[in-house]
Amino acid sequence: MAARFFKKLVAAKPLGTRLYSGDVKKCTLIPGDGIGPEISAAVQQIFAAANVPIEWETVDVTPVRGPDGKFGIPQAAIDSVNRNKIGLKGPLMTPVGKGHRSLNLALRKEFNLYANVRPCRSLEGYKTLYDDVDVVTIRENTEGEYSGIEHEIVDGVVQSIKLITEDASMRVAEFAFQYAIENNRKKVTAVHKANIMRMSDGLFLRCCREMAKKYPDVKFEEKYLDTVCLNMVQDPSLYDVLVMPNLYGDILSDMCAGLVGGLGLTPSGNIGLNGALFESVHGTAPDIAGQDKANPTALLLSAVMMLKYMQLAPYANVIEKACFETIKEAKYLTGDLGGKAKCSEFTNEICDKISKSS
Ligand code: NAI
Repeated sequence: MAARFFKKLVAAKPLGTRLYSGDVKKCTLIPGDGIGPEISAAVQQIFAAANVPIEWETVDVTPVRGPDGKFGIPQAAIDSVNRNKIGLKGPLMTPVGKGHRSLNLALRKEFNLYANVRPCRSLEGYKTLYDDVDVVTIRENTEGEYSGIEHEIVDGVVQSIKLITEDASMRVAEFAFQYAIENNRKKVTAVHKANIMRMSDGLFLRCCREMAKKYPDVKFEEKYLDTVCLNMVQDPSLYDVLVMPNLYGDILSDMCAGLVGGLGLTPSGNIGLNGALFESVHGTAPDIAGQDKANPTALLLSAVMMLKYMQLAPYANVIEKACFETIKEAKYLTGDLGGKAKCSEFTNEICDKISKSS
């Protein structure tokens, strides 16, 4: 099983290879719906204050009807990401049970964004139940329970297929170990339910085990999903990097975000074969949209992750420091963090700090 995959890997580009040339600094921006445009504008303002050498290419992903009558992502948006190989995305509204299917899912499929990475780290000065959380969840992003294969067998009986493939499991396992090495992490935990889903999770787990043999310097362990949930809320320091199939990753990554203060603070990156898309993980927050109340931190920290991925770490570090200091000082916190500041006041404070540091 593994031999076939390793042969393919050798032929392919090494993982972590940046897919754009060093001097191209154009970046696709998908502001999104609801609070998306406000928090995107905040990120653009902060990037301008830090003189980040990138040019935004803003695209709209409102679905358009194709020749086949089906709604999908506009071609101009697809072309932009394909050209730039890098993008930042705000939240997108997903209609429940009608209309076009999730645009987030469509984007993941379109660009083969196979690994979702979410670092969850306690922020100094923002008190939560836990002080020293520092975990990274790596979620398989293209298949599993979210493969979208569902059908009605007879009236009142529906079936949903959980699809696990060796190729997708191997590449996300490889990504997890590579991430651990590149980020000086010590341990990778494979999260599974192979005791119940013997074939599907069994295959995922076998792929992780195979990959672990290639990375003897990274400790490897296997844990049941339920055990990880229990341990995580009792002592998050037990974990370092966690890799898992799609649904488990969706749930566990939100739980980890909760440990450090919620979705408004958590960045994420979707790494793919054809590029990478960084995004905040919260939704469109329709209840506060257009009121200058949104917290732009999650999108900003996603943009910081993007800069590090683009090997622009010096800019990333300046922005990250100014953002963390602003949160630590607690003078300009938005409502979700217990403050009264507007999104624009929080943003201006970060920009001031950046200007003073340069
Ligand atoms: P939500 O995350 O939009 O809102 C939940 C609560 O958190 C609300 O009270 C909201 O005001 C607050 N909140 C979220 N982000 C915030 C921020 N940055 N600053 C301050 N407060 C914030 O989740 P909800 O209401 O379940 O979903 C609304 C819409 O967003 C739905 O259409 C859903 O499909 C979509 N959504 C999109 C996601 C994406 O594009 N990645 C992820 C999750 C939901």
